[in-house]
Amino acid sequence: MTDTFTLAHLSDVHLAPISGLHFRHWNTKRALGYLNWQRGRRHVHLRSVADLIAADALAHAPDHIAVTGDLANLGLPGEYAAALTWLEGLGDPDRVSVVPGNHDIYTGRLGGDSCLVTWGPFMRNSESWSTDARVQFPYVKTQGPVAFIGLCSAIPTPPFVAAGRLGDGQIAQLALALERLGAANYIRVVLIHHPPLPGQAPPQRALQDAAALADVLDQHGAELVLHGHNHREMLAWRRYSAGGIPVLGVPSASAGLSHKSEPLARYYLIRMQREDGALRINCETRGLTSVDGEVMTIDRRDLATPSV
Ligand SMILES: [Fe+2]
Ligand SMILES: [Fe+2]
Repeated sequence: MTDTFTLAHLSDVHLAPISGLHFRHWNTKRALGYLNWQRGRRHVHLRSVADLIAADALAHAPDHIAVTGDLANLGLPGEYAAALTWLEGLGDPDRVSVVPGNHDIYTGRLGGDSCLVTWGPFMRNSESWSTDARVQFPYVKTQGPVAFIGLCSAIPTPPFVAAGRLGDGQIAQLALALERLGAANYIRVVLIHHPPLPGQAPPQRALQDAAALADVLDQHGAELVLHGHNHREMLAWRRYSAGGIPVLGVPSASAGLSHKSEPLARYYLIRMQREDGALRINCETRGLTSVDGEVMTIDRRDLATPSV
């Protein structure tokens, strides 16, 4: 293959406004989250910026778009419906893959459908992988030479906790999927909301079984892992027998204001090309460099897996 496969990676849009908040949804976690939103985050995550970034991504006609969670803020059914409309604007479910974040599966008390139901079409297996139409994780969506493996790291958590967990069953299924897809020579792109490696987030915000996930990556390999959650650019490497795995974290795609040390809105355009058996991956960072500025190229870097 010498054709280039272009993948846009967006995350953590935290779509505004918070809609459909009724008394039946209230609990301590949502009350604290709502206060936090009103006092700070609503000035940061702007719908207009999310739309600007999405329009820029679409203007580059990517083959596929990956959205790695935190589309919502308080995990409300009204937010799921608004996010569904936003996702449908990105494209058809066979060209858009979504995994949920901790703000999407926010609390045990839901009071309506789960995002796993509302966004189900964007989180399903390709028919060539499985004819089971239920939403299950990991799911595998194939497009051309690329296989997207979607993980669910989001779990309901108490107030002040934004941790995630995959669980033994999902990790075991991931190992099988990576093995089978690797044998079929797919470019394996793993999607997860939380930073997947040990030490990439403080305990209250971390993936609890990151060590087990890292072991599976070491053993079975992948060509790329994409995540969100930290609202920062991150790049780590994991080695496995056939080379290195870039583990790439993208900032929020809706930040219209720099918050703490989080940058203004950014996303990645990732171009993958196989030439003479070697995979080349180039990552272009695009986003805002100033409030009210235009979306532009910020950085380009080669993530080509070193051959061993
Ligand atoms: Fe987030
Ligand atoms: Fe998150």
